[in-house]
Amino acid sequence: MQRRAFLKTTIGAAAGLVGAPRPASASEAEIELRPGDAGPVISPHLYGHFIEHLGGVIYDGIWVGPDSKVPNLGGIRQQFVDDMKRIGAPNLRWPGGCFADGYHWRDGVGPRSQRPRTYNFWQPTMPEGIDATETNHFGTHEFMRLCRLIGAEPYLAVNVGSGTPREFYDWVLYCNGPAGTVTQADQRAANGDPSPFGVKYWGVGNESWGCGGLLTAEEYAAEYSRFVAQFPRAYTKAYLIGVGPNASMESGHPEWTRRFFEALEPRLQWPPLDAWAMHFYTSFGRTASKGNQVSPQEWYDVLHEGARLESLIEQHWKIMGEFDKEHRVKLIIDEWGVWHARGSEIKPAYLFSQQGSLRDALHAAMSFDIFNRHSGKIAMTNLAQTINCLHSLFAADGDRFIRTPTYYVFDMYRPHMGAQQVPLEIRTQAIQLTRQGTSATLFGLAGSASLDERRLTLTLVNPALDAAITSRVRIKGAQASEAQGRVLTHSDRAAANTFASPEEVAPKSLSVSLSGGEIQVTIPAKSVVALQLNLS
Ligand code: AHR
Repeated sequence: MQRRAFLKTTIGAAAGLVGAPRPASASEAEIELRPGDAGPVISPHLYGHFIEHLGGVIYDGIWVGPDSKVPNLGGIRQQFVDDMKRIGAPNLRWPGGCFADGYHWRDGVGPRSQRPRTYNFWQPTMPEGIDATETNHFGTHEFMRLCRLIGAEPYLAVNVGSGTPREFYDWVLYCNGPAGTVTQADQRAANGDPSPFGVKYWGVGNESWGCGGLLTAEEYAAEYSRFVAQFPRAYTKAYLIGVGPNASMESGHPEWTRRFFEALEPRLQWPPLDAWAMHFYTSFGRTASKGNQVSPQEWYDVLHEGARLESLIEQHWKIMGEFDKEHRVKLIIDEWGVWHARGSEIKPAYLFSQQGSLRDALHAAMSFDIFNRHSGKIAMTNLAQTINCLHSLFAADGDRFIRTPTYYVFDMYRPHMGAQQVPLEIRTQAIQLTRQGTSATLFGLAGSASLDERRLTLTLVNPALDAAITSRVRIKGAQASEAQGRVLTHSDRAAANTFASPEEVAPKSLSVSLSGGEIQVTIPAKSVVALQLNLS
């Protein structure tokens, strides 16, 4: 099912070969870093988050209520805040997802006891045991407080499906107008927040090709224009985000991007569009993996499927460039992650609360390396969803709380945030696979690098289940005076953190040898590695 073949893998934004190509032997790699050619800054927002009123994400996951026995900050789960701060969470997208196109923000402001109980898009699919209604106890003010506690920028997804431009503008003025200027701002002040929230990121709809209205690309282009044409810019430095493709489709959904830009082209300078947001879920219909089922075939299926993301970024970037030659409009990966088949829920009553394991951590690391390498194109990405859901960082159930292996990837990759992307070249063997009877190739070792002053960070993913990779790292034009390593791995490919064993998968230090300017490190099988190299 899987064998190694002698192939050279070249990785990097400026991927030209330096020196003669030479294939490495069975489990060896040569890595060259070029800090002298450091490129675009890796926006911290590439490490962003997404939370939705769905299953146990908001209620219990984040909002436990002020009277809860779970330690909380005015109703917000304290542990969630502490851990999100620890990884420097840069932003939170809310309130959906599909929920956003049925959400009327006024239902979620004012005294909590007087807020209406309303319909939630997800309720018909939620398993038994979950409240039949949306209480609206977590609304705009609670969300803004959460963002402030974490130090994250708010990103609001606007209701296009069942809302109006007027409702959108009222929300903008409510959030961003200084008290004393417009009535909406005074209402915010009366509801307890005299200072404006200063929301910059506004997503105009969500999945308008699906749950957000089942629109055609042309219809969405018309709706987008109508929604932003009179956007109240007076009090806000707005960043407007359009609904991009369903890149989970086998084709990558290129026609959505092309037809939207074609329809908008005559107006591309006005109304404004700052970013185009694609959604990409691994496994959506094409692998039947469950979170807790990890046969060798399922391991490689998920990683191979997830690695498609790189070509999808390139596909849509190219189409956008046909209409927007200077690439003023950036890409956002608004929702991404592994979506396993149902059957491994940590708490069955919480929709999509799938078990996250080591495999999901490797998938996340591989995706971050892709984002870093394409940092010049991408303005933001948001993993779906932060807690008690698809590719989560945390699971919570009352006073029980765990960090998943994916959480630790955020922790290990943190030094990339805000650093400059560094081109790298990796020479090793690719892995040959069979998927659905067809042969396929998976990278043998992939990674990304960045530079912050004299600190060089190199992150690597070894997807092989059976082979460690002895690697030599050379830094072109510079020398490392100090090297430190961390590794996330486990002897069991299905290893996960559970309420019974919360630290089963956690990073450990990794030995790195440094001699004569060359770094030697062994990358264990099925692992994520982060190296910190101080340049002399
Ligand atoms: O993350 C779960 C759902 O996936 C979101 O609500 C929707 O946007 C996507 O289809």
